[in-house]
Amino acid sequence: MRPLIAGNWKMNTDLKQGVDLVLALRDLVKGHDSVDCVIAPPFTAIHHLSHLLAGSGIEMCAQDIFWEKSGAYTGEISGEMLVSAGCRHVIIGHSERRQFFGETDETVNKKVLAALRHGLKPIMCVGESLDEREANKTIQTVCSQVKKGLAGLSGTALRDIAVAYEPIWAIGTGRTATPQQAEEVHNSIRGLLYELFDGATVKETRIIYGGSVKGDNIDVLMAQPNIDGALVGGASLKADEFARIVKFQPV
Ligand code: PGA
Repeated sequence: MRPLIAGNWKMNTDLKQGVDLVLALRDLVKGHDSVDCVIAPPFTAIHHLSHLLAGSGIEMCAQDIFWEKSGAYTGEISGEMLVSAGCRHVIIGHSERRQFFGETDETVNKKVLAALRHGLKPIMCVGESLDEREANKTIQTVCSQVKKGLAGLSGTALRDIAVAYEPIWAIGTGRTATPQQAEEVHNSIRGLLYELFDGATVKETRIIYGGSVKGDNIDVLMAQPNIDGALVGGASLKADEFARIVKFQPV
């Protein structure tokens, strides 16, 4: 399966910093086309940076989407707007959105379906809190999020989805899940997808890991059979570090 490495810039970079980062990254990953490389800058930079990405092989991603087409929804951004600004992918249901902005599995599901309607490829995030992990509820929590997030999806649409497993306790903390911990959850997600969808499609569905991914841990993570890529936060803000992640070598 073709790996997906996505950089989530979160609420970082002004336009000039974004331009500098893209120009540096473009050079560093030039010709490295065995991986789908995606960046998710803030909304305000998407259109401008999309032009700089033309011909680079790097694709544009948004950090969120709203499910309505247009209308009186102050502050929201529709799928049509994202596509017209150059996006091909969209991150949905990041734990920070769930924690700080009231996202639920139901809103995540509406956003996933809306993204697909517009031809955008969702990167749907799931993950357990530390309390849930310590109470042995990791698999139950994550599988419930996956099931609810993908409700109503037709079998072949799954092909365009990436599920990002991001344990909340590993995000921005420097504390990465061990490759074994991540693989266990990825394997369970894959098992659930086999129960819900057509097997041939599930085989092609990428399940990517996120949470303190860096240049020095990507190689062991990518060596796991069910880890098909990474969603990278902090380390995606440094061109060298992110390029190193894109050029991972499984060990
Ligand atoms: P991090 O963030 O790499 O900074 O831990 C990952 C994410 O939130 O997607």
